[in-house]
Amino acid sequence: MQQSASGTHVNGSDQGKLRAHISAAAPNGLRAVDDVSSGAGWGRAGGGSRDYHSGQDGARGHGGWPEPPAVVYSCHMNEFSDGTGRADIDHALTRTLHRRAVVQGSITLPAVPAMLEDYVTLCLSTFAALSVDFDDEQRRQLRDTLRDQLDQAFAGSPRSSIVITYDTPVGTLVNYHVRPEWTSIASTYDAWVATRQPPYFGSEPDARVWALAGEYPDPKACPVLDIGAGTGRNSLALARRGHPVDALELSGSFADVLREQARAESLGIRVIQRDLFTAHDYLPGDYGLVVVSEVVTDFRSPEDLRRLFELAVSCLFVGGHLVVNMFVARASFEPGDAARQMGQQTFSSMFTQDEVDAASDGLPLELVDVTGVYDYEHAHLPPESWPPTGWYEGWVLGQDVFALGRAEQPIEMRWLVYRRASDDEIR
Ligand SMILES: C[S@@+](CC[C@H](N)C(=O)[O-])C[C@H]1O[C@@H](n2cnc3c(N)ncnc32)[C@H](O)[C@@H]1O
Repeated sequence: MQQSASGTHVNGSDQGKLRAHISAAAPNGLRAVDDVSSGAGWGRAGGGSRDYHSGQDGARGHGGWPEPPAVVYSCHMNEFSDGTGRADIDHALTRTLHRRAVVQGSITLPAVPAMLEDYVTLCLSTFAALSVDFDDEQRRQLRDTLRDQLDQAFAGSPRSSIVITYDTPVGTLVNYHVRPEWTSIASTYDAWVATRQPPYFGSEPDARVWALAGEYPDPKACPVLDIGAGTGRNSLALARRGHPVDALELSGSFADVLREQARAESLGIRVIQRDLFTAHDYLPGDYGLVVVSEVVTDFRSPEDLRRLFELAVSCLFVGGHLVVNMFVARASFEPGDAARQMGQQTFSSMFTQDEVDAASDGLPLELVDVTGVYDYEHAHLPPESWPPTGWYEGWVLGQDVFALGRAEQPIEMRWLVYRRASDDEIR
């Protein structure tokens, strides 16, 4: 069930109050209000009327507008007997300006629940700019609302956001509403076909994949499984080289593009549109090469990594290879929840070396090569094909998660090559 929550942050009456509406949405995304909790006990929401010392804050003119206190319109300091200074008058005018503002806004942010305090700060500073200050209880309510919506969004998908909409229709009042939004990984990639220009991941096969395939002198004797094949830059190149190729792909739109290209070139690629985590029964066990490029970056947990390794073991013949790339944390960096969640939101899931080792522990997989992806691909791709896409360099350097220079990056994308060992080789 999807939920959204909103708060009405009201000020300007004698009893400043806040109402929070918790709405529950049907699976089709339509929301229905199913609970309204009262803001009893809430203090004033801040804003202009609280700060006028003349007690006019309850007064309202026509249409619900607060009647501005007379003091605001006076420009003559010497009319005041209480020592009101120029700065006070200017400040009062500023507050009146804010009070008269009609503001509507919307902030969409990726859902990273572990960064809750950043969302709270962003909201409070945005609302403060509208002269609305929250007291402790109102902050707690805001924080709880944000936490709920962030948790829902992130649980829904690693392609998720929260949308904070707000408006100040009357004086120093803010209505805010927070709702989660998400799309599945498959739908996100499906949308690329409608919204982006191909090639989505470059035109050339990965240099590391191509080099490994080249170690098999007879391509026909080395059937390939390309997991998360996308639109097939690796599958197509390997099929042209003569490998029998099965392409496993989650996105229906990508699978269609790949099928169409394979048909146009009369390449006998078998395209299997499935989630890799449910594909076991559809795959034979005689592949010489399993390719997993830019796919682990969509994983959500080390358990996903384990399931990938188990699938590779069940698919590869003994002596065959698994070639996979992934972001691995540098030894000095232990990623916390915020880094991991932001990684998922930016197609950059990351794992520690211990997690990678544990995921293959006890399986008949021997790690035979580890290489940094950036340097390898840069050095081996044809110069005219570097970078493969406009986003590739920043992404592969980890900069979509951490806006840092290369030397400071706490993660590195690596190529890992495993040899399928015989079961006897593993104790
Ligand atoms: C960044 S693209 C890379 C495509 C291709 N491997 C390449 O390098 O050009 C990631 C691909 O993995 C696919 N993918 C992600 N999770 C998957 C899963 N659980 N099962 C199958 N495919 C998946 C996506 O649909 C997408 O096509």
